[in-house]
Amino acid sequence: MGQTVLVTGAASGIGLACTKLLLEDGCRVLAFDPQEDRMRAELPECDELAFFGGDVSKTEDCALAVSQTIDKFGGLDALMHWGAAHSSKRWDELDAEECNFIMSVNVTGSFLISQAAAKHMMAHDGGSIVLTTSTSVLFGVTGGNGQGGPAYVSSKGAIIALNRSLARALAPRVRCNAVSPGLAETAMVGGMTDELRASMTMRFPMGRFGEPEEIANAGIFLISDKASFITGEVIHANGGSNFN
Ligand SMILES: NC(=O)c1ccc[n+]([C@@H]2O[C@H](COP(=O)([O-])OP(=O)(O)OC[C@H]3O[C@@H](n4cnc5c(N)ncnc54)[C@H](O)[C@@H]3O)[C@@H](O)[C@H]2O)c1
Repeated sequence: MGQTVLVTGAASGIGLACTKLLLEDGCRVLAFDPQEDRMRAELPECDELAFFGGDVSKTEDCALAVSQTIDKFGGLDALMHWGAAHSSKRWDELDAEECNFIMSVNVTGSFLISQAAAKHMMAHDGGSIVLTTSTSVLFGVTGGNGQGGPAYVSSKGAIIALNRSLARALAPRVRCNAVSPGLAETAMVGGMTDELRASMTMRFPMGRFGEPEEIANAGIFLISDKASFITGEVIHANGGSNFN
């Protein structure tokens, strides 16, 4: 594909899988995650890859990540924003501090990294943005047992609205879409009990959790020329679990 892509959440799970797939596809990647050591340990050293240890909820980190991408690779074609914070607290355990933290990383962070990328894309050759929501938005999951609780689910719902707003504001130069993963085999679901995993799996038409690569590929489609007329959409990569 040959694009220059800024990937957040690149130290783990879907973002890590996405970074590897993009490199295999001939892309140049700026890998962004607070866990810089982990990114460096998980990913190969090569000319097509640069690392940025940072936090998407900080305006200056987002601006710096974009400027380092441009300095290193000469441009920015796409942002794939997978990075997020998780909260499993139920309604009666959640407090304002955790709620505000989740909103600031997941919602404000999605906005800030999109804004930083879009400023460059709108002023240059255009581009595309992929945000990440969650199938949990459809179920109203309640938290506990490693499942997303009200803070996480609300933050992922807000990202659907943000996606629509950005898609309209940035069209036609920049397309903005979202991937909605179902349960995928990553650290984020590591707190789930075996019983919960088995009961959830039974409800999915595909009968299993997704692999990180299966989610990442939906996002890679969205930044490709094959998705040139798609903007403001949410693609569900969830094994059919929104049919429940
Ligand atoms: N795994 C699932 O079942 C599932 C389901 C629905 C949605 N999602 C979404 O998919 C995306 C990827 O999640 P994953 O499953 O790969 O989880 P993961 O925990 O494996 O990876 C999340 C990554 O985000 C990074 N991150 C955390 N805070 C950040 C910040 N402030 N700035 C930048 N990066 C930050 C983490 O360091 C980590 O590397 C997330 O947006 C998540 O909400 C995952």
